[in-house]
Amino acid sequence: SAVEYGLDAPFAIEYHDSIPSTNARARDLAAEGASDLVVLADEQTGGRGRLDRDWHSPSGGVWLSVLFRPDVPMAHAPVFTLAAAVAVTRAAREAGVEAGIKWPNDVLVRHGDAERKLVGILTEMEGEADRVSWVVVGIGVNANVDPGDLPEEANPTSLSAERGEPVDRRLFTQRLLEEFDALRQDPESVLDAWREYATTLGKQVRVETPSRTIEGEAVDIQFPGSLVVETESGTEIVSAGDCEHLRPL
Ligand code: BTN
Repeated sequence: SAVEYGLDAPFAIEYHDSIPSTNARARDLAAEGASDLVVLADEQTGGRGRLDRDWHSPSGGVWLSVLFRPDVPMAHAPVFTLAAAVAVTRAAREAGVEAGIKWPNDVLVRHGDAERKLVGILTEMEGEADRVSWVVVGIGVNANVDPGDLPEEANPTSLSAERGEPVDRRLFTQRLLEEFDALRQDPESVLDAWREYATTLGKQVRVETPSRTIEGEAVDIQFPGSLVVETESGTEIVSAGDCEHLRPL
């Protein structure tokens, strides 16, 4: 519970030392009718990432899933993924790590020309087109983890590696959840906050979606989280859920 973890959080917390996947557990709780709770684990043994990838989740990370039932149409749900990116970026900065957001939801730390990944976010949902039933926002933070223990192809970093000392996970998680709680209740404020931390805007990019590849300047984002790209043949809007890869050109 929140009390056991020592958290004063705006959500009930179900804590596990080890669990296959906090997203899978949160989905099961959603099916049982639960809401407004967080599943939090020290270690995941079957963590899942985007595009059906594995997500390595050794002990020392902050692996959590927020389950809630916003009164919005399905099409608005991407805004909660952006809200999670903003919340975790703010908590990382308060912990002294200068994180930024690569559209749509990669939280990265710059090292010279390279960017290393600090956080992964995986949002799942169910419902009808005109109203979601539940949303699970899964947030995986490489907190007190040695990046050398994570797959190299993910180009990982961690809070402890960036700081040179461990982060107080209790405080970090509390700040993350407070920020996320405020943002989810005020979706209109999410885009402005997101733009503050964006590393993608103003850059030439190539975006790959299942159906097309778009090249041009990333000029802005628009509700609920789509990227606006100025291409040679005009303005293209790419929705966050469609993005398979985004590369700087
Ligand atoms: C990505 O591919 O970048 C998204 C990774 C999301 C990982 C988090 S960790 C907590 C939650 N539980 C999971 O199994 N996945 C998400």
